[in-house]
Amino acid sequence: MNEIIISPSILSADFMNLKHEILAVQAAGAEWVHIDVMDGHFVPNISIGVPVVKSVRKKTEMFLDTHLMIENPYKYIEPFVNAGADLITFHLEACKNGEEVFEIIKKIKSFGKKAGISIKPKTEAKEIFPYLNYVDLVLVMTVEPGFGGQEFMHDCAMKIPLIKEKAPESLIIQVDGGINNLTAKICRSLGANSLVAGSYIYSSSDYAKAIESLK
Ligand code: DX5
Ligand code: ZN
Repeated sequence: MNEIIISPSILSADFMNLKHEILAVQAAGAEWVHIDVMDGHFVPNISIGVPVVKSVRKKTEMFLDTHLMIENPYKYIEPFVNAGADLITFHLEACKNGEEVFEIIKKIKSFGKKAGISIKPKTEAKEIFPYLNYVDLVLVMTVEPGFGGQEFMHDCAMKIPLIKEKAPESLIIQVDGGINNLTAKICRSLGANSLVAGSYIYSSSDYAKAIESLK
């Protein structure tokens, strides 16, 4: 069995107790923390940004998985790297053309950080095929980005095997949106090896049990 990377999304955490909420998922077995950055333009919601990543970095050695749901991602790579992000995932839909996609990937890599590219539900898997050999991670959204707690879109999960077929062995295929113990099983069987979960983990009374049930 392949190892599955679970990345709890702090979007559903209690922000008044963020330190506790992050250390709690770490103690519960998570190695990554998923940080959802929203700008109110690329998605119809505003969440958190650079200063929060900086504060989180000071309190944990965990791998900071930063999901940028923002316009003009290129401009914000350096601030997020300086704040302590380990992985920067940007959206294909935020880029004007393929040239810009490659510029963003190159910039992230120039800092020695991992690069991820994400697609929204309406974007077809084939749109990211040209970039699979250049990124460390592909993030398949199984909800419309912008909010936690939405229902898993089964059709979107069907992109996982299409991507896996074309991807190098080392590529991490991550799924984000509506992940619970049942949808996690579907994604794993389709070939995903990283799962983001916000509300499922943070609304549970036992984080360790919730995380274990996703593996
Ligand atoms: C949605 C975010 C997700 C969100 C997932 O725009 O990218 O990471 O926090 O939340 P759940 O797991 O509740 O669907
Ligand atoms: Zn996310």
